[in-house]
Order: sequence, then C-alpha cells, then structure tokens
Amino acid sequence: QPYRIAVLVGSLRKESHNRRLALALEKLAGERARFDYLRIDDIPLYNQDHDSDFPAQGTRLKNAIRQADAVLFVTAEYNRSIPGVLKNAIDTASRPYGDGAFDGKPAAVIGTSPGAAGTAMAQQHLRNVLVFVNLSVMAQPEAFLQYRDGLIEADGSVTNDGTRRFLQAYVDRFLDWVGTHAPR
Ligand code: FNR
Repeated sequence: QPYRIAVLVGSLRKESHNRRLALALEKLAGERARFDYLRIDDIPLYNQDHDSDFPAQGTRLKNAIRQADAVLFVTAEYNRSIPGVLKNAIDTASRPYGDGAFDGKPAAVIGTSPGAAGTAMAQQHLRNVLVFVNLSVMAQPEAFLQYRDGLIEADGSVTNDGTRRFLQAYVDRFLDWVGTHAPR
C-alpha cells in the first residue's frame, strides 16, 4: 500500500514553483506514495467564533489530513515568513482546541524561491508552528531550493541532475520517516 501524503502548498498562484516542486517530489516518490493536494484557497479567514460553528471547508481540510499517513508542506516565502494562506489553513485545521487534525502525524517541510536563501526563513517559522500543533516534523535533511527558470517542468520533471539527486534523497528520507512514525 502506498503512503497517503497530504500536501499543503504555500502558494495559490497557477504557475507556482512550489507546486512544481511538490509534483517533482511526487514523481520521485513513485509507487511508494500517493499525493493528495489539499485545497486551501477557499478556507475562510480563521475566526475563533467559528470554533462552535465550524466551516464545511475547514472540516473537509481536517478530514483529508486525518485520512493521510503524513503531511508534506511545500512553501513559498513571503516577506521572510509563512504565506498567510498557509498559516490560515494550519490555524483552521488545528481547531477547535483539543480537536486538531495534525496531532502525532509525521510531517516534513520544503520550499523554493528565486532568492539565494530558498525559503529558509519561511521554513524555519513554519517548523515553529508545526511542532506546536504536535506534528512529528522531520529535522533532516533540510531543503532550501533556489529556483531557476526551467529547473522543474510543468509535469514535475527536474531538469538538473544534481537537483534531481538531491530531491530524490530528500523524498527517500521523508518516506523512511513516514514509515517509522506512522506504522500501519
Ligand atoms: C515574495 N518573494 C520572496 N522570496 C524570497 O525568497 N523571500 C521573501 O521573503 C519573499 N517575499 C515575497 C513577498 C511577497 C508578497 C511575494 C508575492 C513574493 C518572491 C517569491 O519567492 C516568488 O514570488 C515565488 O515565485 C513564490 O513562490 P511560488 O508562488 O512560485 O510557489
């Protein structure tokens, strides 16, 4: 049985490099995993009043996370931090208090941007949040990928050999992590 990986991409843009990165990882995982790209663009802006009248989109998100063996965060960096749309999804799925969807699942973080630091600051901020919602976040390897035009094709093919090997090693380690932290 392939692992079911819930994927949260921290960018809504059609041509998102991070979405391509997620597709690349899916391709490199091959038969070992099934990636489920969770929709986050329609999650209402989190409002604590919703905790007693939870939005259907939030319930959908939580159910999809609960059904997964692990969660993979592939994030852009906005102003040296987590894109608001991703933080909104995490806040929603973490509520109501005591009924968060993330509790105890394995997870990993990766991201790409054209800047030299390749989303390092956003990823570090994200790790802070993910540890609090009690995800078991893989510590190593880290992956800060500087995006260059053409690095990943629309179907997720990685055009640079070194980058492909690096991402293969990352996904192999992630699936090992899932195997040891979400035994079925
Ligand atoms: C950015 N970008 C950016 N890049 C980066 O490396 N560090 C940063 O702090 C920021 N800040 C930032 C803020 C805002 C509001 C935008 C719109 C963009 C550039 C960003 O990395 C670039 O737009 C990527 O293409 C975004 O990722 P996707 O959408 O391609 O996945």
